Amino acid sequence: MTDGPLVLGIETSCDETGVGIVRGHTLLADAVASSVEEHARFGGVVPEVASRAHLEAMVPTLERAAETAGVRLHEVDAIAVTSGPGLAGALLVGVAAAKALAIGLGKPLYGVNHLAAHVAVDQLEHGSLPEPCLALLVSGGHSSLLQVTDITTGVDPMGATIDDAAGEAFDKVARLLGLPFPGGPHIDRAARDGDAAYVAFPRGLTSGRDMERHRFDFSFSGLKTAVARWVEARERAGEPVPVADVAAAFQEAVSDVLVRKALDAAATAGIDDLLIGGGVAANSRLRAMAVERAERVGVRVRVPRPGLCTDNGAMVAALGAELVARGRTPSSLDLPADSSQPVTQVVA
Ligand code: KG4
Ligand code: ZN
Repeated sequence: MTDGPLVLGIETSCDETGVGIVRGHTLLADAVASSVEEHARFGGVVPEVASRAHLEAMVPTLERAAETAGVRLHEVDAIAVTSGPGLAGALLVGVAAAKALAIGLGKPLYGVNHLAAHVAVDQLEHGSLPEPCLALLVSGGHSSLLQVTDITTGVDPMGATIDDAAGEAFDKVARLLGLPFPGGPHIDRAARDGDAAYVAFPRGLTSGRDMERHRFDFSFSGLKTAVARWVEARERAGEPVPVADVAAAFQEAVSDVLVRKALDAAATAGIDDLLIGGGVAANSRLRAMAVERAERVGVRVRVPRPGLCTDNGAMVAALGAELVARGRTPSSLDLPADSSQPVTQVVA
């Protein structure tokens, strides 16, 4: 698709400063500056450090995106920005920048939901979203099953994590195994040489009473504790910890629960299209398992390429373009950053 609205999107909800430019479903630029290395020694994102880094990276990232896209800012049809959920101070930097652009250029402003943007980004790779679709959204801050009837107005949660997010579990287990932050990609890599059946780690909320109350919810804190106990026992016995095997067995447990619940939710909602998004959707085992098991039950799977799964500005621009294309009302210029913006609120 070479037509459609030209939209600039800004993402600053966590540690990536992202500026993307799209025309309709076509990606023109995806500039990302990450502060992840500044957080690595703390083992997690430090909000104040992230906010400061966004402030420093915003203008250079914006310039890089415009140059790559070959677009002058006054040519864009709208500005979109993540208004939430995310870290309050970090969001504020993006929202302030987007407002300045919208006012300075005289363009409409759309404050969009970060989670809906993780779903909308797939349009840049695979074209129009199937609607309805069932979205499994798994990132460092969220793990949700969403029923999407209209990506601009109808996103309804079927379930979510009751404790850690899937990405958070990857990051914590990586730390236990002595792997760097953020742990997801390191576990993914280490697991390639491991035996996924080496330890049968627990699958949270998948049996008995839990299934009655939390059929479409997730829990990863028990799994994290189980890995910690297992590693401690090994160390106490003075035996080496087989990092690749533990990584593979842990990754298998997370992927198994995610795919099982997503396919159960799709069947329950009568939906044949499953979309996986968010940073954890970059995981190679999760991707392969989802495709394999979905095929068996006649469900089509769409997962954006790994570079579009982790936080970026293109996803925000993609959702913004869809809002413009469907004639949705822009946000007001006094749009607040809302660190707990509900998933049902696609536009603030
Ligand atoms: O979507 P994202 O970039 O930021 C949030 O919105 O949270 O997700 C980041 C999370 C981190 O927890 C990171 O460890 C995880 O995604 N992640 C992965 C992989 N790549 C990133 N988890 C598992 N396997 C991966 N290949
Ligand atoms: Zn995200």
